[in-house]
Amino acid sequence: MQKKSITLTDNRNGNTYTYPVLEATRGPDVVDFRTLFKDTGLFAYDPGYTSTASCSSAITFIDGAKGELRYRGIPIETLAKEHSYLETCFLLLNERLPNADELQNFDLELRHRAFLHEGLRSLFAAFPDNAHPMATLSAAVTALASFYQEHLDMNNKAEYHEMAHRIIAKMPTIAAFAYRHSLGIPCIQPDIDLSFTENFLTMIRAYPGGKMHLGPHGHETIREVEVRALDTIFTLHADHEQNASTTVVRNVASTGAHPYVAIASGIAALWGRAHGGANESVIAQLEMIGSVENVDAFIKRAKDPDDDFRLMGFGHRVYKNFDPRAQVLKTLQDELKEELGLNSRLMEIAAKIEEIALNDDYFVSRHLYPNIDFYTGIILTALKIPKNMFTPIFVIGRTVGWITQWIEFKKDPESKIARPRQRYIGD
Ligand code: ACO
Repeated sequence: MQKKSITLTDNRNGNTYTYPVLEATRGPDVVDFRTLFKDTGLFAYDPGYTSTASCSSAITFIDGAKGELRYRGIPIETLAKEHSYLETCFLLLNERLPNADELQNFDLELRHRAFLHEGLRSLFAAFPDNAHPMATLSAAVTALASFYQEHLDMNNKAEYHEMAHRIIAKMPTIAAFAYRHSLGIPCIQPDIDLSFTENFLTMIRAYPGGKMHLGPHGHETIREVEVRALDTIFTLHADHEQNASTTVVRNVASTGAHPYVAIASGIAALWGRAHGGANESVIAQLEMIGSVENVDAFIKRAKDPDDDFRLMGFGHRVYKNFDPRAQVLKTLQDELKEELGLNSRLMEIAAKIEEIALNDDYFVSRHLYPNIDFYTGIILTALKIPKNMFTPIFVIGRTVGWITQWIEFKKDPESKIARPRQRYIGD
């Protein structure tokens, strides 16, 4: 069978060049332009990488037009409904779902690895009380690289999986430490008797010493419905192919740096409000709008080309129909409305924005639909999680994706140092 290719004609000199088209198992095929510069003396120009595939990957598939997202071939809707976050982590790392024994062993291993080295405590103390937990989180993950310097042998699967399990297990503890430090309350180590997600909720909510706060009705417990909601949020964030922060992780991996340093860089990239930081900005924006009556004025601002105001939680580079993660969360939000007491003023404002934007020509013609961040904030607020912890929660969920992508990069014989070129327009 004839191989697919694409031929370019350079109309400056009439030369033609043929480039192979590499087939994808799903989604667009890619043109292999690796010799473009050598052949033509030209660089490919694509700021923002809107048409660039930076690697071959078998982890996550997105069809932006259909609103489809799959991890290792399994639709996100199935994972969110029928599987836990830990099963999803196992799937991403091992290319298949675990059986009952494997899941139990994986869960136990993560519980054992969740504590933080005592030597790390003083690092948190160095940050001012009002430090954003994302700053502390990124620094603490960098510090982790100096506590665990081994596990870089890519021929030893057990070793690099241990490295991966450790960072997945410790991330909720680091995030909880960062948060508790920002409040000036003593940090608590994880409880080995609690599941991944329940442990995290306990570590951020518990009274010093590990007991839950005493509420008006006695001990406040963590409800099963809360664990389920947060676990689903972790699953929905677990991976998202070559997004901005994952690209940063892969680029840092390409220089040979320690995997935890690559992840710390991913955390920094995720913090921005065009990316993961949007979940915090959504709630801040809803609070700023203040009431349903003010929504129209803000929609007007979002549409004004001379105003840089954007509706946070709307739009996506890849999804041009709907964000399937947002749909799962919207369904979850409706299901849990009563149980989580979601009938808040903020939710009314959000519902009004959603209704207008979904019918307004400005948003419809630009394919600007609510993304995952639009819904996470509402649910996390109902779980009594403060705004500055929304993006750290994204980090906890995404850690498995970053580390799986790091491993895939290291195992790929075509990986090279990431070193793009430029179109020079200076003097
Ligand atoms: N509100 C108002 N207008 C918007 C919005 C928005 N949220 N998003 C895009 N637009 C407009 C732009 O002004 C532009 O209009 P124009 O064609 O008239 O100039 C058009 O839609 C295309 O926008 P781009 O910025 O070119 O789209 P891009 O794909 O580069 O950006 C992004 C995607 C960053 C997500 C953008 O939609 C945005 O800033 N959204 C708000 C922040 C947000 O929710 N981020 C979370 C993304 S999901 C995630 O990372 C987990």
